[in-house]
Amino acid sequence: MFPSDNLKIFSGSSNVALADAVCKYLGIPIGGAKIDRFPDGEKVIRVEDDVRGRDCFVMQSTCRPVDEHLVELLIYLDCLRRASANRITAVIPYFGYARQDRKDEGRVPITAKLVANIIATAGADRVLAIDLHARQLQGFFDIPVDHLTGELVLSEYFRGKKIDKLTVVSPDVGNMKMAARYASRLGGELAIVHKKRMSGREVEALEIIGEVEGRNILMCDDIVATAGTVCSAAKLVKKRGAEKVYVGATHGVLAEQALERLGQTPIDEVVVTDTIPLSERAKKHDNIKVLTVSAMLGEAIKRIHRNESVSSLFNNV
Ligand code: R5P
Repeated sequence: MFPSDNLKIFSGSSNVALADAVCKYLGIPIGGAKIDRFPDGEKVIRVEDDVRGRDCFVMQSTCRPVDEHLVELLIYLDCLRRASANRITAVIPYFGYARQDRKDEGRVPITAKLVANIIATAGADRVLAIDLHARQLQGFFDIPVDHLTGELVLSEYFRGKKIDKLTVVSPDVGNMKMAARYASRLGGELAIVHKKRMSGREVEALEIIGEVEGRNILMCDDIVATAGTVCSAAKLVKKRGAEKVYVGATHGVLAEQALERLGQTPIDEVVVTDTIPLSERAKKHDNIKVLTVSAMLGEAIKRIHRNESVSSLFNNV
């Protein structure tokens, strides 16, 4: 019988709208909890529903303010564990710190691994995440991870646009496999941009391998953060004679100067998902469209709760 009283979904404060949409999909109310602060600024959470022996899910994107949302998630997990939940799944639609996944110079941390460790230590038995930047990040967690991808809802949207003369462009070498999956789903050609990263904020698209002249471009990425990567690549493909340029990315981090950059670049549409809520400024931007991942997350939660296969969600897509 579904939904059952045994399933409880709670939401951190990072993305309440997405948690509401997931609960609506599942036909259950969102779990009762109070998130408050002590006068000195410390956060305190009190879960108001009885969770003893229940299958609990906590939804929290560790987006900006990253550390605050992360700590809130940890407190939530500890709270549910001490309240005797039977199983706790941390649902992390956007996992901040994912890009700090290796030592690419001396004396730097691998913060993605640190964060994975503390999430498990705080009480998570499982993780449900979407596009963890690099798929091998699943191995950073010593607990089971179900990994979903925003590529499905994005592909569906772009398929509906029936873009002719389509070339899917990977804006850097790291996204090549993702671009190939889009090209095979949507039936386009494939091209790749060679980019040079000067700093966290500055990148330069240097060269393209593949044909873009007279083609309509779908540029795909997992994250648009400062938008340096996609804007620099968009300018290069335009210079080489591309017609329309669309961007599809799972996580619209849209940090710092991203909106200005997107406004100054010949991109026809930027499509992201609701793993991160758009800022009020971003909502006013003319050509940013948001697709929801709520049904996909809801379906995955339902299957995890019933101990059914989650990977079969992706068969034939
Ligand atoms: C890089 O490895 C990622 O896939 C993204 O391309 C990158 O994180 C985007 O960052 P930004 O928008 O700041 O260039």
